This record gives sequence, C-alpha cells and structure tokens, in this order.
Amino acid sequence: MAAVAPTIRPYRPGDEAALMRVCVETGAAGKDATGLLTEPDLLSHVFLLPYLALEPKLASVVAVDDGPPVGYVLGALDSRAFEAATEAQVWPALRDRYPLDAFGADTLDALLVHLLHHPIEAPDELVAEYPSHLHIDLLPPVQRGGHGRRLIERLLAQLAERGSTGVHLGTSEKNTNAIAFYRHIGFDQWGPSGQGELTMVRRLPVT
Ligand SMILES: CC(C)(COP(=O)(O)OP(=O)(O)OC[C@H]1O[C@@H](n2cnc3c(N)ncnc32)[C@H](O)[C@@H]1OP(=O)(O)O)[C@@H](O)C(=O)NCCC(=O)NCCS
Repeated sequence: MAAVAPTIRPYRPGDEAALMRVCVETGAAGKDATGLLTEPDLLSHVFLLPYLALEPKLASVVAVDDGPPVGYVLGALDSRAFEAATEAQVWPALRDRYPLDAFGADTLDALLVHLLHHPIEAPDELVAEYPSHLHIDLLPPVQRGGHGRRLIERLLAQLAERGSTGVHLGTSEKNTNAIAFYRHIGFDQWGPSGQGELTMVRRLPVT
C-alpha cells in the first residue's frame, strides 16, 4: 500500500502535546534539545504556546490524516502588539512558576527563564518595515519534502491578507540548514548577526 502523504491544516485545540514535542525535538539550532533541558516544556512556553494562545488562526500544522502533528508554522501579525499581549497575559504566570534562580547558571533552562523575565524586544527599525514574525519547525522525517515552503507560503498569504508589509524571524547562526532554506525561499539577512543569532526578513506584497 502506498504511504500516506502528510498534509497541512489549521492548528486546532488538542494539538498542543504533539506540537510541544516538535518544539523540543528541533529546539537546539534545528536539532533535538531534549537532553539539554531539565524542563523541556520551557522551550514551548517561550516559542510555541504564546502563539497558539494569542494568534491561533496564524498557526498551521503538518500531519498525516488524523495523526499527531509533526510540524508547524506560527506567526504574529503585529510583533509590538504581540509583545504587549505576552507581557500582559502570558509572562506573569510563567515568571511566578519559574523564578530567575530556578535553574543553575549557564544552563539552557536558565537562559529560557531569563527570556521569560526579560523578553527581547524587536528593534523599532525592524518592526517598522517587517512588523510580523514567525517560527517554523518540522520533525526530521518530514523535512525536505516541500512542507516548510508550503507552510511559510500559507502564513505569508495570511499575513499579507491582513495588511502586513513584511515578516522577520530570528535563527541561530549554527542553524545553517534553516538559513540556507530561508535564503532559498526569498528571505534576506537583516542587520549584522549578534550573540550567535541572526535576523532574516521578507517583504510581503500589498494585497
Ligand atoms: C528549516 C525547515 C523549516 C525547512 O523546511 P523543509 O520542509 O525541510 O524545507 P522544504 O523541503 O520545504 O524546502 C523548500 C526549498 O528550500 C530548499 N532547501 C531546504 N533546505 C535547504 C538547505 N539546507 N540547503 C539548501 N536548500 C534548502 C529545498 O531544496 C526547497 O527548494 P525548492 O522548493 O526550490 O525545491 C525544516 O527543515 C526544519 O524544521 N528544520 C528543523 C527545525 C528548524 O531548524 N527550524 C527553523 C528554526 S529558525
């Protein structure tokens, strides 16, 4: 019998556990971060769950039939508004749950907890031109099958429909696969890299 191809569908409540698995298994510059964390859920608290809570319509997943999702794209239409909403609705409870000294210094857990307490604000010059941002992750078995491109195209169309002029994203300089992918599908580097991270951008057509 022929293998069933994965397809893209909107995120729906109930997908969270599978998406959290994708988040951690791709969380170390595209590779599995499970063994690097005492608290693997921290990655999802920072990079996944706020998007599902605040921008659920911009979340799409890759899945085979009714199976658990094996990849996702997440977006925020207005990064400034998203920063304000996370500050008001998401970070306070997580800061109570994970105080700054919850983990030993120089651990990935501590770095993520630091981000909960001191979220990075996108620079004004970046959001002026590229107000939206995104995250994308697929598990290895569904990488290099065209799903990444399709997920991004779907999200960019949704953002353009909603009036966004451009989108940005951050990636580790070590994630050479992702950087090559983004360049290949029309993203450019924005500004210099800093602290091992680089920012990539793409303009959106006016619709
Ligand atoms: C990076 C990632 C999102 C790319 O998605 P993907 O489904 O593997 O990529 P696709 O198959 O859709 O590739 C789209 C195009 O980019 C090209 N491409 C993909 N990876 C590439 C690479 N490493 N080098 C050069 N080109 C690449 C493909 O050849 C394809 O070209 P085509 O459409 O002209 O034929 C995915 O591999 C992934 O999730 N990796 C692990 C997690 C991760 O790194 N996330 C990003 C964090 S910033």
